[in-house]
Amino acid sequence: MKGIILAGGKGTRLYPMTRVVSKQLLPVYDKPLVYYPLSLLMLAGLRDILVISTPEDLPQFRRLLGSGEQWGVRFAYAEQDQPRGLAHAFLVAAQYLAGEPACLILGDNLFYGHGLPDLLRQSAQLRQGALIFAYQVKEPQRYGVVELDAQGRPVSIEEKPARPKSRYAVPGLYFYDGRVVEFAAMLKPSARGELEITDLNRLYLERGELQVRILGRGIAWLDAGTPESLLQAAEFVHAVQERQGVMVACPEEIAYRMGYISREQLCDLSRHLGDNSYRDYLLRLAEEG
Ligand code: DAU
Repeated sequence: MKGIILAGGKGTRLYPMTRVVSKQLLPVYDKPLVYYPLSLLMLAGLRDILVISTPEDLPQFRRLLGSGEQWGVRFAYAEQDQPRGLAHAFLVAAQYLAGEPACLILGDNLFYGHGLPDLLRQSAQLRQGALIFAYQVKEPQRYGVVELDAQGRPVSIEEKPARPKSRYAVPGLYFYDGRVVEFAAMLKPSARGELEITDLNRLYLERGELQVRILGRGIAWLDAGTPESLLQAAEFVHAVQERQGVMVACPEEIAYRMGYISREQLCDLSRHLGDNSYRDYLLRLAEEG
């Protein structure tokens, strides 16, 4: 399975912050926003990751992330010329995927919590159908909404419904089998002119091939699309890190713990980071062994 981070869009809800900087490169407390979804894909065990962004912003992502070799993974980059919708990512990624299953994560979604790494690793085993998640929220009408029957099977899925049929929002993390490009190519643009991920998920639902797993309240799901939610995400990361002394979404740490890089490589990475608490954290990890 290959990973895709969709980090395009105009970020207009964050203007003027995002006039000249991509939203997904803005800081969430002590690291760029894109580190959070990227860490999630790494925790899922995915090592081939495509970063999709706008033609203007893509060079900055390359500068930040490079080839991926430093973290024992492989990054590829692709442009999305216009925000044509989340499902459009699969048309951009068609050649890259070459028929393989894919996990898509939105570049502004942040997940954290107990049991998540196991859940991710299991989900990355998917070879048939699609797998999405359901997360109870206060304002489901702001999201894709999935309705479940008594057995937890999906009954309907709608994008930002005025009258939501459930309180379960669909977070920006999706797993698909090797037919995803073919299915994405069948979609028609919605009223807002986009290829909707919800329409793609409905194609799988109609074939009886959509699985939905509930993410419980022990897991935090945040997005960072507005000034308020960006601040909340930063506050969340700060609170967890201060209290526990562990980092949320540190790619160097994940690479080390997954065995992708050696202790020597970790020390080497820390030497290029300058004098700051991020470097001190990596050095401490290396010392602890
Ligand atoms: O956050 C989860 C929600 O994400 C889902 O519940 C919805 O079903 C899904 O449609 C999406 O809703 P949003 O309205 O939040 O999507 P938005 O258009 O804001 O796009 C999400 C991110 O993806 C945003 O950071 C910009 C980026 N993006 C968006 C589009 C449409 C792209 O990179 N390219 C695009 O073409």
